[in-house]
Amino acid sequence: MTDGKACRILLTRALPAPVMDLFHRAATCAANPEDRGWDRDEILRHAHAHAAEALVVMAMDRIDAGLIEGLPASVRVIATYSVGHDHIDLEAARSRGLAVLSTPDVLSDAVADLGILLLLGAARRAREGMQMLYDGAWTGWSPTQLIGRDLSGGRLGIVGMGRIGRAIARRARNGFGMAVHYHNRSRLSPEAEDGAAFHPRLDDLLAVSDFLMLAAPVTPETRGMLDARAIGLLPAGAVVANVSRGDLVDDEALIAALAGGRVMAAGLDVFRGEPDIHPGYLALPNVFLQPHQGSSTIETRLRMGALLLDSILRLRAGEAVANRLA
Ligand code: DGY
Repeated sequence: MTDGKACRILLTRALPAPVMDLFHRAATCAANPEDRGWDRDEILRHAHAHAAEALVVMAMDRIDAGLIEGLPASVRVIATYSVGHDHIDLEAARSRGLAVLSTPDVLSDAVADLGILLLLGAARRAREGMQMLYDGAWTGWSPTQLIGRDLSGGRLGIVGMGRIGRAIARRARNGFGMAVHYHNRSRLSPEAEDGAAFHPRLDDLLAVSDFLMLAAPVTPETRGMLDARAIGLLPAGAVVANVSRGDLVDDEALIAALAGGRVMAAGLDVFRGEPDIHPGYLALPNVFLQPHQGSSTIETRLRMGALLLDSILRLRAGEAVANRLA
């Protein structure tokens, strides 16, 4: 590696302290000192002031063509501290000659763990149980109290069988003996499939998904895919979980299905228009919510930071990197 310290990196949000230490040790870094996102003008102002070569941005930053156009010529790399990259206009970055990096692989296990938490929290009615305890309303064990559903032996349908989808499939199969089905743009190799049943049509996957896990990126094809029609194809009393992006879901339709019992419960970590959650979710007892926590373990956040830092420095040294999107 070359003289990384000479590399000027701007982080739009302070990362956990040990991750910041990595960056500060290896490069000349400036970071947003506040625990809030910067708006477009702030990102641009700081990028110019720091004469940044690389920007480390967050999934909540909107890196659109207008922002990319306003960046100083010093910027060569945009590195997102996420695996999702729907917030970045890759085409605009390409035409500006900018490299774009993300954090695949290193967060798959953490997000998959959270996916299982969402399924369990929803199917075992964890929100209602906690509420009962916090309200002091628990009167003791009862044979009829908060009856949920077994994950064990159930059928799990996964939409999006990328690295995260496959990590969820492994946990579901090996940990819970679930029968895994999936829908994906293309069929996986038999080895990657590992016994999961492929459904070329989403509708066919929905029809067998007693438990449905959304793990696909946002694309024009997947945006709003879980709408009233799709929900109507699920088995009655299905459990829905989303670890990907809220944009995959038609909130009104899912809320209506949860309120009417067509969908038994939902476990959601991601929301359309975050952090402004549709208020309908908050009013329902059968929704187990997390505030976009998929990758939030210290081990994972360290790996994400190390990967981006290493790739930024390698690109600077003229090397190729595997986590380059553009
Ligand atoms: C990402 O990194 O894109 C995910 O949202 C993690 O939860």
